[in-house]
Amino acid sequence: MQSLARSARHVASRNPAGATIFNLNASTQISSSARWSSRSQVSPQRRAKFQALPAFFAWTVAGGIAFYSAQLLVAARQPCANPNISDLAQQTDVSTRYDDTADKFDSEVGFSEWLMGILKIRKELAQQCKGHVLEVSCGTGRNLGYFDVYTKGQVDSLTFVDLSAPMIDICKKKWVALYAGKEALLKPGLVVRFLPATALDRLPLAPTAEGPKKYDTIFQTMGLCSTPDPGQLIANMVEHLDTSNPDARIILLEHGRSYRQWLNNILDGSAQKHAELHGCWYNREIGALVSEAAERCGLVLVRERRYHLGTTWVVELKPAKVTKPAPPMAQTGDQQSQPKKTLYQRSKEFISKPFSGIALKL
Ligand SMILES: C[S@@+](CC[C@H](N)C(=O)[O-])C[C@H]1O[C@@H](n2cnc3c(N)ncnc32)[C@H](O)[C@@H]1O
Repeated sequence: MQSLARSARHVASRNPAGATIFNLNASTQISSSARWSSRSQVSPQRRAKFQALPAFFAWTVAGGIAFYSAQLLVAARQPCANPNISDLAQQTDVSTRYDDTADKFDSEVGFSEWLMGILKIRKELAQQCKGHVLEVSCGTGRNLGYFDVYTKGQVDSLTFVDLSAPMIDICKKKWVALYAGKEALLKPGLVVRFLPATALDRLPLAPTAEGPKKYDTIFQTMGLCSTPDPGQLIANMVEHLDTSNPDARIILLEHGRSYRQWLNNILDGSAQKHAELHGCWYNREIGALVSEAAERCGLVLVRERRYHLGTTWVVELKPAKVTKPAPPMAQTGDQQSQPKKTLYQRSKEFISKPFSGIALKL
């Protein structure tokens, strides 16, 4: 730097090019003063109009925020019609609501998820899924594009389960849209399955070359809010987790009550209506539900994070004890044969055969 400055001084004092530099500065000054004079030729009415625009936008935004905040304040102060509405016993089963709302689901949640940074959290968590992965309550497959499924990826198989056939149908179509024609890029032997089934009951085990086995990662996002029995849902995840694998994990991204009472008042006040419309109880005590189920089912907490005034939860659980590896299961029998109808509430005409990426046909 010092030598550069020295040579610049040298050029400026000895070389006529130095004069050019000063001339250039002079012309810059002239052109900028010309710009000022041309600006001053804009009529005062026009200038006032331009100056008014940002002020108009600022007032509109401020007005909008004030109106929204006032509404929240009124809602927060109103006593809830049912003071026990956060109790599971008071909450009706709205889990089938998604059959009617599947088409609109992505457009309804897309913008707010982006704004709240939820897409980023989805990506981070999906990328932690390893081995044979089961995603329960997968919905329209909002995590689909984030799994590590490429040639040297850490995912060996993906099994998607959702109670709603229309929701999982969208999930399946998304997979095709994302990966059809890119099969050569996917991990060799990767198996992907889509099952319209309840995650409250027994599910098919993971498809491995040695025979079916339990899953290495069980993943769920925004699922505890939609089931009538969140405790049983977690217990059933544990039933399907390979507890002989010390790295086995249950990873949850959930939403529920806040650690702020004023926000809980708003959630409680609107929960009934929200549940009827959207099939989700957003005022549940996620922390209590998870810790009670974890203790009962022999899980320990690996990590817990909360966002958005505590309403968004990230929870990672692992088995408290690593068990002995189970012998490979026979290919025949209950788990491999056609699942019994009772396990599948709404799978009547739905195609959910296992496929390797290449063989997928809708
Ligand atoms: C709020 S949506 C979340 C969907 C998706 N996981 C996401 O993050 O966008 C809840 C989903 O849970 C599904 N669901 C509710 N009860 C279920 C059950 N017992 N078994 C499987 N899926 C269930 C619903 O059909 C719905 O697709």
